[in-house]
Amino acid sequence: MKPIQVGLLGIGTVGSGTFTVLQRNQDEIRRRAGRGIEISMVADLDTARAKAVVGDAAKVVGDAREIIANPDIDVVVELIGGYGIAKALVLEAIAAGKHVVTANKALLAVHGTEIFKAAAEKGVIVAYEAAVAGGIPIIKALREGLTANQIQWVAGIINGTTNFILSEMRDKGLDFDVVLKEAQRLGYAEADPTFDIEGVDAAHKATLMSAIAFGIPVQFDKAYVEGITKLSTADIKYAEQLGYRIKLLGITKRTDKGIELRVHPSLVPAKRLIANVEGAMNAVVVNGDAVGTTLYYGKGAGSEPTASAVVADLVDIARLHDADPAHRVPPLAFQSSSLAAAGGELPVLPMADVVTSYYLRIRVSDEAGVLAKITGILANAGISIDAVLQREADEVGGEGSTQTDLIILTHDTREGDMDRALAEIQGLPTVLAPINRIRKEELN
Ligand code: NDP
Ligand code: HSE
Repeated sequence: MKPIQVGLLGIGTVGSGTFTVLQRNQDEIRRRAGRGIEISMVADLDTARAKAVVGDAAKVVGDAREIIANPDIDVVVELIGGYGIAKALVLEAIAAGKHVVTANKALLAVHGTEIFKAAAEKGVIVAYEAAVAGGIPIIKALREGLTANQIQWVAGIINGTTNFILSEMRDKGLDFDVVLKEAQRLGYAEADPTFDIEGVDAAHKATLMSAIAFGIPVQFDKAYVEGITKLSTADIKYAEQLGYRIKLLGITKRTDKGIELRVHPSLVPAKRLIANVEGAMNAVVVNGDAVGTTLYYGKGAGSEPTASAVVADLVDIARLHDADPAHRVPPLAFQSSSLAAAGGELPVLPMADVVTSYYLRIRVSDEAGVLAKITGILANAGISIDAVLQREADEVGGEGSTQTDLIILTHDTREGDMDRALAEIQGLPTVLAPINRIRKEELN
């Protein structure tokens, strides 16, 4: 059978990995796919750099639209990133009847509904395994391997950059900025690294997993997003003393009231496997009613790990290229006619309605009655305390210090109730700094 012809848009970190992996493993990939897969055209703004990567193996152009206009190209692989030109090119490729592979979680989390609809109308595939957790085949696992299950929750370390930063800060005591620069050098970080450190990238991925797990449309605008920039080494240290690790988790959960969709730093018991996922590694835990809890672990970022997922999508397309579109796996796992309407019977819950337990660090004057006042406010709000830890003032502020840190762990509480109690506690004259609140997830 004639090899399938691929046009690559953007040959940076992931694009060059995709080219290299396809070249290196082409014989085995052909045996698996049943036909060859050839990258015959590459577009990049920097054509000299692109030529240095591909040599004579593919035609290099500066204008991505030349690829879309070429009738010989069967599949367009978008590895540019962002919502701007990438969105226009993906929609144009679909309109031109090309299948699309993309690693662009930002684009799909925000514009997925429009893109999947356009693809369905044209009968083409939009494949995006690389968009979530890099090389881990989590989309395939959720969409196909776990298809028998009613998924209860999904929780994951789904941003390599922030996990790398948290690991290096904890293990080597390195500064945030130093580690971030290293993550950028290693090709883990997004073009705009605030997407990584403010939790936006993880929220893009959690949004996609939420849609696939529960059969709801992609609704990034409803996700709660909090990054790691407000974490301090003191919190990392106290968490350790209490038997927890702090991880940036993307969580989506089915509840009686609706779907939770949130990204924030979380205390996770140190004994859980996911708490021991270090560096740029990713891990996703999925709980299904039939299978129980399953864990998926691997490299979540970087050139060839991500290329592994891009090439897997290309193999799927090579196999399904000529199949009746009705026989393909739906892009969001559920048939499009069976997706719940946004805000319908499975609404994404506002953060105030999320129920979880908390770690609170409260900087207070080291004087009599302070603890009683704070625990009294929590009790009045119906918030039950699990544990209290008070540090020696000398340990916190140096010898002779009159300030100390009060660490409180709570049982499950509605976030809205916690917000009100914390506002009251923050107003106490003996509370000397903004309260640090980190949610706690037992994941059992
Ligand atoms: P890079 O910035 O390394 O590569 C993007 C490439 O696209 C660059 O070479 C860039 O050229 C080129 N480009 C920009 N605009 C155009 C255009 N109009 N036409 C053609 N080429 C263009 O990004 P990554 O490879 O890291 O990321 C690509 C995608 O993969 C993103 O969506 C990202 O979120 C996703 N992703 C990345 C992972 C990673 O580990 N890096 C992992 C998983 C997903 P120039 O440099 O000259 O601007
Ligand atoms: N910037 C992302 C990360 C790349 O650090 O995980 C992989 O999606």
